[in-house]
Amino acid sequence: MTATAHDATTPSTRPLPREDARHIARAFLPRHVLGNRYDYYYTLTKLRTDPLYPGVLQALRPTRAPVLDLGCGLGLLAHALRADGLALPYYGVDIDAAKIRRGREVAARTGLADVRFDVLDLGAGLPAHHGSVAILDVLQYLAPERQRALLDQVIAMLEPGARLVIRSGLADTSTRSRTTRITDRIANLAGWMQERAKCYPTADGLRAQLEGAGLATTIRPLYGDTPFNNWLIVGERG
Ligand SMILES: C[S@@+](CC[C@H](N)C(=O)[O-])C[C@H]1O[C@@H](n2cnc3c(N)ncnc32)[C@H](O)[C@@H]1O
Repeated sequence: MTATAHDATTPSTRPLPREDARHIARAFLPRHVLGNRYDYYYTLTKLRTDPLYPGVLQALRPTRAPVLDLGCGLGLLAHALRADGLALPYYGVDIDAAKIRRGREVAARTGLADVRFDVLDLGAGLPAHHGSVAILDVLQYLAPERQRALLDQVIAMLEPGARLVIRSGLADTSTRSRTTRITDRIANLAGWMQERAKCYPTADGLRAQLEGAGLATTIRPLYGDTPFNNWLIVGERG
């Protein structure tokens, strides 16, 4: 990855370099030439346009603890970690059994070490874990009371030096916030996303809960050139 991507002091707001994105996305090519290329094009587009993973990698680079990825989808974070040279043990869970099956297959085929996946409804509970926790573009699919309870549970999982890394669309009065809501609704209606967004957290609400639990907390924009209202929230026990 580029020198800019490894600069720990400048907040990362750019997507992965094009070649790094292609390298990761190629893992999602079908094994047969006539196979379905949806996951390949989805991951390539996401990695080339969304600054999500560079921002998350920057937050996790100083850590050594295992990572629990809640609502992991295809497990792109596992690929981004390994491509970045980060060997943190990775455990991804998601409610979508088809994504977990494909994510598991691709990770095994690619030879990603220390990576596992399970189907899990975050509305029902969480696995046992001690370490860092990533919650990337997922909170809005949970009801507000479940969001709060889940955050309390994951805060209790944080070991010293581990981090809670959240990316989320935030509720505010901006056009970006409206665009995020409308796009999530369209994604659900079109069948790209099985779950329907229920409620977007606010920056004040997240800060109050994390800081109230004793976490040193940073909140910064992580939307890059996209039209969405996506922010990176990082909490660490002080
Ligand atoms: C926008 S995708 C983000 C995927 C991944 N975190 C990423 O950043 O690439 C949201 C994910 O949350 C998952 N999800 C939604 N509701 C969930 C629930 N109740 N339990 C577990 N996963 C859920 C969806 O299946 C989907 O994979």
